[in-house]
Amino acid sequence: MSSDTSKFHKSKKSAAVLKHAIIDSYATPFGSKTGSTSKDNRVSFIDGYAGPGRYDDGSEGSGAMLLRKAKELAAMSRPRKVELHFVEDDKETVAKLRAVAEAEGDGVDYTITDGDISKHLPVLLDAVKDIPVFVYLDPCGLPIPLEEVAAIFDRPSGPGAPATEVLINLTASLRRFAGMLYSDKDNEKSLQVLDAACGGDWWRKAWLEKCPDKATATEDQKVAAELAVVEGYAEKLRERAGALGTWIIDVKPRADLKPLYYLVFATRSIHGMVTFGECASKGLEHWRKYHAELAAEDTLFGSAADWETDWKAEEKKLKDQWVDTLAARITDELAKGQAFKIIDRSAEILGDDLVGLVRTMHFRAAINKVRAAGKTTTDPKGVDDLYNLLITPA
Ligand SMILES: C[S@@+](CC[C@H](N)C(=O)[O-])C[C@H]1O[C@@H](n2cnc3c(N)ncnc32)[C@H](O)[C@@H]1O
Repeated sequence: MSSDTSKFHKSKKSAAVLKHAIIDSYATPFGSKTGSTSKDNRVSFIDGYAGPGRYDDGSEGSGAMLLRKAKELAAMSRPRKVELHFVEDDKETVAKLRAVAEAEGDGVDYTITDGDISKHLPVLLDAVKDIPVFVYLDPCGLPIPLEEVAAIFDRPSGPGAPATEVLINLTASLRRFAGMLYSDKDNEKSLQVLDAACGGDWWRKAWLEKCPDKATATEDQKVAAELAVVEGYAEKLRERAGALGTWIIDVKPRADLKPLYYLVFATRSIHGMVTFGECASKGLEHWRKYHAELAAEDTLFGSAADWETDWKAEEKKLKDQWVDTLAARITDELAKGQAFKIIDRSAEILGDDLVGLVRTMHFRAAINKVRAAGKTTTDPKGVDDLYNLLITPA
């Protein structure tokens, strides 16, 4: 185990809070929805870079969380049979994961494989070929080649086919590799590692277009270059996998700071897109609350009561801003004279800035605002799925 990895596992780094909040809120609807029509109500999760299950401070890692989710789904009034497959290639970490699974996995159907995800993924995909699968790929560095990620979608698609979804963590180690693009040294071999992860060398051009000169590169240029590569990755994955859509969630400690990592979610299902968007928004809210509390702990003058009041006031400001922005964009779309659904205009309505941040409650408030302004006749009252609501010009 590298020293970096062991440090990571000691305590739950704040960066992990977001991805876990998203999985925590998404695993249940995924299992419940896809398992309602699947063979024997079976659903599966593959955790390809599983980690120790729990951190040294006792907090949940993805392992403990998925074991808990499997039990919750089995306890539903219409139970789901969850199959968990963990892969972890560090011996010490595998031992910790096994101990967690033995202590907490009573009655859960799980496998733990000690080895490299690249080697074991095809075998596991074969084991779950007839049932829905959610694959979580959370490496510490670069992920497996894009070709191997896309191959997860080489399963039947279309009506009645079991769901296939992937959540992948693209870390900011992109920057380290991109730095080599400017070097005089022969880094070709190292660069080819990122070529494989990205499914080709297209990323080199994408990076250099946004950030051509290392000496004068600004932070904004580096962030733009990173995002261009992540967007290119998502697009390639979508094309190669025949996925219906992808969400890119950039995980920033604060709105004004650079992303720590990006989560890319890919699915073939419209329900998957909508539900994941909802869960990402809740996860990000949880993450902002976590950071507000952390910041208060770091402040001598902060009291426990203050931080929550301040956080709520900040959240209210954010919500108002988002609703105003959404209402303005919906009004612009309506001005084109055609009825539309948000799901078909996600680029126009969500843009780069609101993806993952907003959810149904914000859409509802925005549509109501546009309605109050007399620009639409559509009433969102009582409608659960606002992504698919037809919004009609007044
Ligand atoms: C970021 S940690 C995982 C955290 C965990 N998924 C969670 O959410 O709590 C990444 C883990 O992947 C493991 N790993 C690295 N390369 C791997 C590979 N090729 N195959 C399987 N596991 C790998 C590391 O040992 C490390 O424990």
